[in-house]
Amino acid sequence: MQRIVNRHQLDMPKLGLGTWPMVGEECTRAVVQALELGYRHIDTAAAYNNEDAVGQALAQSSVPREHVHVTSKVWWDRLSPADMRASFDNTLRALRSDYVDLFLIHWPTQDWDLARTIDTLVSFKEEGRARAIGVANFPLALLREVVEDMKAPLAAMQVEYHVALGQVKLLDFARRHDMALIAYSPLARNSVAQMPEIQRIAAKHDVPPTQIALKWLLDQQDVAAVPKAGGRANQLSNLQSFNLLLDDEDRETIAALPKDQRLVSPPFAPQWD
Ligand SMILES: NC(=O)c1ccc[n+]([C@@H]2O[C@H](COP(=O)([O-])OP(=O)(O)OC[C@H]3O[C@@H](n4cnc5c(N)ncnc54)[C@H](OP(=O)(O)O)[C@@H]3O)[C@@H](O)[C@H]2O)c1
Repeated sequence: MQRIVNRHQLDMPKLGLGTWPMVGEECTRAVVQALELGYRHIDTAAAYNNEDAVGQALAQSSVPREHVHVTSKVWWDRLSPADMRASFDNTLRALRSDYVDLFLIHWPTQDWDLARTIDTLVSFKEEGRARAIGVANFPLALLREVVEDMKAPLAAMQVEYHVALGQVKLLDFARRHDMALIAYSPLARNSVAQMPEIQRIAAKHDVPPTQIALKWLLDQQDVAAVPKAGGRANQLSNLQSFNLLLDDEDRETIAALPKDQRLVSPPFAPQWD
């Protein structure tokens, strides 16, 4: 599978398995199955309450741990240095691993000492317990502060990105700083299946609309995607999007779609740019 490799110690397959909102045995089963199908990138978080289930799957699977990229995240109410360290320790314990491949701050908050939070994040990388570090849901101004002013060696940002939500500014920033952009909710929570333009392109290629939406992301340089799929058929179908070849006409049609459909904006979300 195609990977994104950068100077911040990131080495990550472009397609990963999103695990929210699966928990417990359902999550373990889905991750074991995904690893059997060939997934080598799993996205979890402390807030998903499924790191233990992911850890169980990693232990159970015949795929060696070092062949799998695992991302996890610390929740926004645990961003004091002591809380963050405790949360990170829990993450490693639950994953039954002495490192994660990528560790992210899940959401920014206003109630923090930003410099100390970022120093703590960087310390996990220096200790070798997070191979790479990054942030999720940070707006551009905050990214500038962290990457350009504080010089934090961020390898990736994770943000909502799909055919109906543009991320031109963040993608440009990511590329200028040798960062990956990991698209979450890449299927717009499966609403892509209802979009007539996507349906038309899908019919032309004789594939499901979800594959069109995924391949549009995966074709972009420095962009990865973590669709959540519980069942085998959808996991396999999402993997098969790599076999599809979109043409210029398809890309023009997708580019012309409205790009303002943000689905994930909880009350604690920052002011988006
Ligand atoms: N950093 C953050 O703040 C953040 C926020 C949201 C999400 N995320 C991450 O991103 C992951 C994905 O995002 P998401 O779950 O919001 O949305 P998504 O991946 O866009 O959509 C998931 C939905 O699409 C369905 N689906 C998947 N593949 C399909 C296929 N081939 N055909 C038809 N339906 C299909 C899934 O159903 P089935 O399960 O039945 O297949 C599920 O209902 C999460 O699991 C999580 O790991 C991160």
